[in-house]
Amino acid sequence: MIIVIDGPAGSGKSSTARQVANLLRLQYLDSGALYRAVTVAWLKSGKEMSFFEKLNHLNLTFRYENGLFRVWIDSIEVTNQIRTEAISSIVSVVASRPDVRALVNQIMHKAISESVCIADGRDLGTAVFPEADLKIYMDASPTVRAKRRTRELIESGDEADYQDVLDKILQRDELDSGRDADPLRMAEDAILVKTDKLTFDQQVELICQLIQEKQKQQ
Ligand code: CDP
Repeated sequence: MIIVIDGPAGSGKSSTARQVANLLRLQYLDSGALYRAVTVAWLKSGKEMSFFEKLNHLNLTFRYENGLFRVWIDSIEVTNQIRTEAISSIVSVVASRPDVRALVNQIMHKAISESVCIADGRDLGTAVFPEADLKIYMDASPTVRAKRRTRELIESGDEADYQDVLDKILQRDELDSGRDADPLRMAEDAILVKTDKLTFDQQVELICQLIQEKQKQQ
C-alpha cells in the first residue's frame, strides 16, 4: 500500500508523514531529502554541468530509522547538510531538471517494497505514484507556512527573519509550481487537507484516520 502526501514548503507534510509513519509503523520515504542530496553532490562537484551527464554514477543511499530519514553520498552521511540554507536556496533549481527527476523517481520506485509506505513530496500523486492507494494534498497560506518555518529555524538554533523566510517560500512555490517537469499540483483524486487552523497533533490524527479507513476498505 502506498500513501502519498504532496504539498508546498512549510505545509507540514514531512513532519506529519514522519509522525504518522512512527505511530502506524510504516516505512517512510522523503523525496525532498533525495533532491536535497543530489544538490549536495552537485555543489561538491563544484557546480560542474558535466555532473548531470554522470547522474547514473551517483552513489546515493538512504535509510529510515528511529524517526530519522538518513542520507549518504558515497558512504559520507549528508543528513544534516541537506537541511542547510545553502541547499534549501538552490534545491528547487536542481529539482526542476528532468534528468534529476528521472533519477530520483527511479530510486523511489526501487525503494517501495511490499510493506506499507508513506512518502511525501511535490509530484508523488501526479507523476511518481499515480497509482497510490491514498493521496493527500496538504496546504496552508504562505503566511502561516512562513511563520511555522521561522519558528522551526529559531527552535533549531538558527537565525531567521520572518519576511526573509516568507520571500523564500514564495520563490520556491513559484519555482515548484511553474516548472515544466512535473510541477507541484494537487492530483484530481487527492484529499485536500488545509492545515492553517489545525495543530500538529490534529493533522497527524486526521491522516492516521484516513489511512486506517483506507486499510479497512482493502
Ligand atoms: O521540506 P520542504 O517542503 O521545505 O522541502 P523538501 O520536501 O525537502 O523539498 C525540497 C525541494 O525539492 C522542493 O522545494 C522542491 O523543489 C523539490 N522537490 C520536488 O521537486 N519534488 C518532490 N517530489 C520533492 C521535492
